[in-house]
Amino acid sequence: MEHYFKKSVIELSGYHSPPQGKVRAKLNQNESPFDVPMQIKRGLVDAAAKLSWNRYPVNESPVLKEKLAALYHVSAEQILLGNGSNQLFQTLLTAIIGAEDSVIYCPPSFSLFDLYVPVFDGKLVPVFNPPGSDFPGEEILEKIADVNPKLILLCSPNNPTGSEIPLSILEKICNISTGLVFWDEAYGEFCEESAIPLLKKYQNLIVSRTFSKAYSIAGLRFGYLIARSQIISQFRKVNLPYNINLFTELVAATMLDNVALMDEHVWFLKEERDRLYAEMIKMPAITVYPSSANFLLFRSPNGQKIFSELKERGVLVRDVGGYPLLENHLRVNVGTREENDIFLQALRESMAVAD
Ligand SMILES: Cc1ncc(COP(=O)(O)O)c(C=O)c1O
Repeated sequence: MEHYFKKSVIELSGYHSPPQGKVRAKLNQNESPFDVPMQIKRGLVDAAAKLSWNRYPVNESPVLKEKLAALYHVSAEQILLGNGSNQLFQTLLTAIIGAEDSVIYCPPSFSLFDLYVPVFDGKLVPVFNPPGSDFPGEEILEKIADVNPKLILLCSPNNPTGSEIPLSILEKICNISTGLVFWDEAYGEFCEESAIPLLKKYQNLIVSRTFSKAYSIAGLRFGYLIARSQIISQFRKVNLPYNINLFTELVAATMLDNVALMDEHVWFLKEERDRLYAEMIKMPAITVYPSSANFLLFRSPNGQKIFSELKERGVLVRDVGGYPLLENHLRVNVGTREENDIFLQALRESMAVAD
């Protein structure tokens, strides 16, 4: 039946969802280990029961846009809401990318970049960013001059390496590029700098954010883009109507009324990230990289074996050994203190067994 489909889709391997479900420590999807507190959940369920489920939600939730606009000191017209930030990435590609348009990106980076650009027949142009080295800023500038990309995809802090791209480099890229610059800040709450203030300076910058990580609602799917209103208004034309359901709207608004709770969780996770790093760096056979996100990338002599040994001990991490430049690398996200201790103990045991 292949003749029914686009060649780019036939050639695609598709997104493979990592294992889910109950284990001793689930540390493979960079989620928050903290669920929304039960007291808040109960109030939300009661509030949801009072809504008219037979009616469409108000399109493009003005409530959420107003709250986000106030948080980031931008206008509501600069914000586009999505059913997770992944959905908005598709919207963005739909609006921008056609056959043979060049898209620069910096592998190893977010897997959806490789996955979706080819669907729109865009041409991915890699500028490699090996873990543990400085970001290849000069190389990107040269490549931009070379291929004049329609779009540049940057992720900071970068998944799966955890490294940040200096904003000074982003500024140079925005300055030189005639195309758009997509800046994914899915892990932005865990680092010190955001590119949002730069939107005042650069008309070609688009910042992407999500409530799936620091805000604890991966299961409800909510993300947003912030850019100049003239850019957002074009994306708005191709974004799916009613993509934010009533319940997601309700919960996301409540999370925005409780930013202090999120801040507390982020503070804890950053402390635990640093503790995990300090413990892992003591393990002689492991190379662990500094991270500005809620996860750590590490290399061990036999990544697949360590992955299986950890799994046998009830610990799920992400095997990222198939990414470019990341043979034998694994990614672990920060969990509760107990989960992190379980992981450290399981890692020590796995290393001993795999030796
Ligand atoms: C860099 C990056 N961007 C976006 C996402 C997806 O976010 P969402 O759950 O909002 O679709 C992830 C999820 O892992 C991510 O790592």
